[in-house]
Amino acid sequence: MKNLGILISGRGSNMESILKAIKKQKIPINPAIVISNKSNAKGLAIAKKMGVQTAVIDSSKYKGRRLQFDEEIISTLRKYNVTPTNGLVCLAGFMRIISPHFIKEYKNKILNIHPALLPAFPGLDAQKQAMEFGAKYSGCTVHFVDEGVDTGPIIIQGIVEIGNKDTEKTLTKKILIKEHEIYPKAVELFAKKKLSIKGRRVRISS
Ligand code: GRF
Repeated sequence: MKNLGILISGRGSNMESILKAIKKQKIPINPAIVISNKSNAKGLAIAKKMGVQTAVIDSSKYKGRRLQFDEEIISTLRKYNVTPTNGLVCLAGFMRIISPHFIKEYKNKILNIHPALLPAFPGLDAQKQAMEFGAKYSGCTVHFVDEGVDTGPIIIQGIVEIGNKDTEKTLTKKILIKEHEIYPKAVELFAKKKLSIKGRRVRISS
């Protein structure tokens, strides 16, 4: 069974949905470690309560030393046996851009969730971007992480409609519900070895 490392920075609701699904749906992956770059991340308490090991690597102590910060993350992942060969890393509200070195080392083993239908509205404040643009639909995307910002091969997307009455707040809420559906699904597909990547396309086998 593969080992899962989840990187968070805050609330950790996506992390929680993944951990719950692993337990409930018996997804064949071992939740080995949750790492936060912030000591006050709410998700840390949730992970502990669910019996998952946690670690804090405080990014504020690594100002101007991004590589060292990433090295520390990598060595913590390795300590819990989340390696490029037998591991999966999920970014779940992790508010740091990870270095090309980290991405290369864990090639096609890092997933991210973004609150928009990529390639629309990458980067920060995706829900605000969708509202301001006047999009009629938005949603969320789970993708493999490559060197760009929210540019990696897409695994699953979830769609929500933007109605007349929607605000950034209501849209964010609707998207989050979808996020909690598709991220565990993507982890399950990975764990069951159902994903293969060809160029930009991710093939899901049945
Ligand atoms: C989510 O909206 C996710 O799409 C984005 O950051 C937010 C994290 O929320 N990357 P949570 O910490 O998982 O609750």
